[in-house]
Amino acid sequence: MLINLKDITAIAEQHTMAIGSFNCPSLESIRASIDTAEKLGYPVIIAHAQGHEDIVPLSVIGPIMVALAERSSAPVCVHLDHCEDLCYMRRALDLGFTGVMFDGSMLEYERNVELAKRAADMCGQFDCGLECELGSMGPRENGRGHEKENVDTPDAIYTDPKQAVEFIGSTGCDLLAVSFGTVHGIYKGTPHLSFKVLEELRCHTMTPLVMHGGSGVSDSDYHQAIQAGIRKINYYTYGAKFAGERVKKVISDFQGLDQSAIVYWHDMTEAVYDELCIAFEHVMNVFANKLS
Ligand code: 13P
Repeated sequence: MLINLKDITAIAEQHTMAIGSFNCPSLESIRASIDTAEKLGYPVIIAHAQGHEDIVPLSVIGPIMVALAERSSAPVCVHLDHCEDLCYMRRALDLGFTGVMFDGSMLEYERNVELAKRAADMCGQFDCGLECELGSMGPRENGRGHEKENVDTPDAIYTDPKQAVEFIGSTGCDLLAVSFGTVHGIYKGTPHLSFKVLEELRCHTMTPLVMHGGSGVSDSDYHQAIQAGIRKINYYTYGAKFAGERVKKVISDFQGLDQSAIVYWHDMTEAVYDELCIAFEHVMNVFANKLS
């Protein structure tokens, strides 16, 4: 069933867990997210990032996401990730998206507040929850793969708790994406997360917090982050990498048998679906505190 971002986060608060938010630029990733949620009995967020528009347009993937969410037995929120443009956001709302992220984190603070307020007004006219971002988490989600720049995150880019309180009060956003050491893409080394910053943010804001750059983080860091107030974890890059590695293996297995063997595209899509299910099952269990 299709569920609002606020309602799905309320479930996370009730169970002190985080909901996995999986970027879905393909049918395989949508199916793997929803099928795994149904198998395990957890809610799930499926997300389209504005930066993935060139992989698959919102107008194509959006209606499929909404249709599959509506007919699922699991609670599914259909979410717009890293939207920097209110006209694009409006298109997602018209398609029936139940969560949107307005990302003004690259703007001056005052401009971020002004546009986030307009985003909140728009969401208020629909059955839709709003996530915003303060602080910096490195390059945007663009689906093209990049290495995470900041393993030792400088304090300067952490979200400031006092500013976070002011931002939420001024904009009325429902969830806040915060910077405490995670960044998008592939980690060059071990990420060092500041749980002190996260705890302060939660304590000051009393708002559900969002971890971006959430793939490639250790299970124990996930657990600590959830204890400190993270209720939504964005996961993309590592799942896409595992699926890519599986495709490489399928091709090399075929070629190992016989160089002239025909490799069919549907063998790749099946392998991608399987690999994503494995990755999503693991993290969904961790996010629900079912695995150590
Ligand atoms: P990763 O790059 O760590 O998968 O993070 C994805 C994300 O935060 C999307 O918004």
